[in-house]
Amino acid sequence: MSKKRLLSGMQPTGLLHLGNLVGALENWVRLQDEYEAFYFIADWHSLTTLYDKTEVIRQYTLEVAIDFLAAGLNPDSCAVFVQSDIKEHAELHLLLSMVTPVSWLERVPTYKEKQTSLRPESMSYGLMGYPVLQAADILAYKAGVVPVGKDQLPHLELAREIARRFNYIYGDIFPDCNALMTNYPYVPGTDGRKMSKSYANAIYIADSPQQTVDKIRCMFTDPTKLKRHDKGHREGCSVYEMLDLFGRADLHEDCEAGHVGCLETKERLAGLINEYLEPVRQRRHQLAKDIDYVEDVLAAGAKKARVAVRHTLEEVRQAMGVR
Ligand code: TRP
Repeated sequence: MSKKRLLSGMQPTGLLHLGNLVGALENWVRLQDEYEAFYFIADWHSLTTLYDKTEVIRQYTLEVAIDFLAAGLNPDSCAVFVQSDIKEHAELHLLLSMVTPVSWLERVPTYKEKQTSLRPESMSYGLMGYPVLQAADILAYKAGVVPVGKDQLPHLELAREIARRFNYIYGDIFPDCNALMTNYPYVPGTDGRKMSKSYANAIYIADSPQQTVDKIRCMFTDPTKLKRHDKGHREGCSVYEMLDLFGRADLHEDCEAGHVGCLETKERLAGLINEYLEPVRQRRHQLAKDIDYVEDVLAAGAKKARVAVRHTLEEVRQAMGVR
């Protein structure tokens, strides 16, 4: 029996952090054997916002590829590739754009947010088409399963609507695609907010153990615990949240009993996180020394991807009467 097809992507806008690892990548690693999996670096999507910082995209495309492999994506089990290596995504994006009402795109939450935060000249045609490109990514592979976080659900819903409208006009080509919402745990950053590169509160895979210790030393803790022997509370303590995430809430008990100060609990947490990241960091270190290997993986991934999309594009061109 052939495996179901699965696809997901990430934008190369920064190094990957603990939140990406625990929230998404570990999940991708688990899924790579169960499905025929395609994982890609969405560099064209990054151009929708970083069009004037292309050196960032170029740099992080490779860094993210390294993080993917370090996290455990196995190029023998899945395809790892760069979106812009597969021009069919762009062709399908163009063709799908013909059947996508502008009113649908104006309703997309990420687009509406950008309207309030970006200057009018940055509200490009390409940015508005972001979800159409994402639909093309998915539909080119006829992927039935798309593992994504909650924030991506409106994009997934739009992809399904575009597919349905296309099928209605041109005949059944695209299957239904579904978000695979595994319970992504909430990973706190060092400042108590969700871990995110845009908040400067992230612990990166690429960080050294010492950088990790330094960041965790600055982490937010229970504001009512002022002295070492004050009894600490779980509420409002990011160190507790993080320990709990790793199944080691017990390491916070001494703090709650007033036996240890925050610094000691932070040392415990830093030890735990460094131990957890150690094998990933080791692999990252090796991969960073062998960029040729990483490039080979991306080339092989692109080859698999091209084979996978060829037939879909032939069907779509024929259905739409173009060559
Ligand atoms: N928009 C996604 C994000 O920012 C990345 C992405 C691009 C994607 N194309 C995709 C995810 C296709 C899943 C499927 O996280």
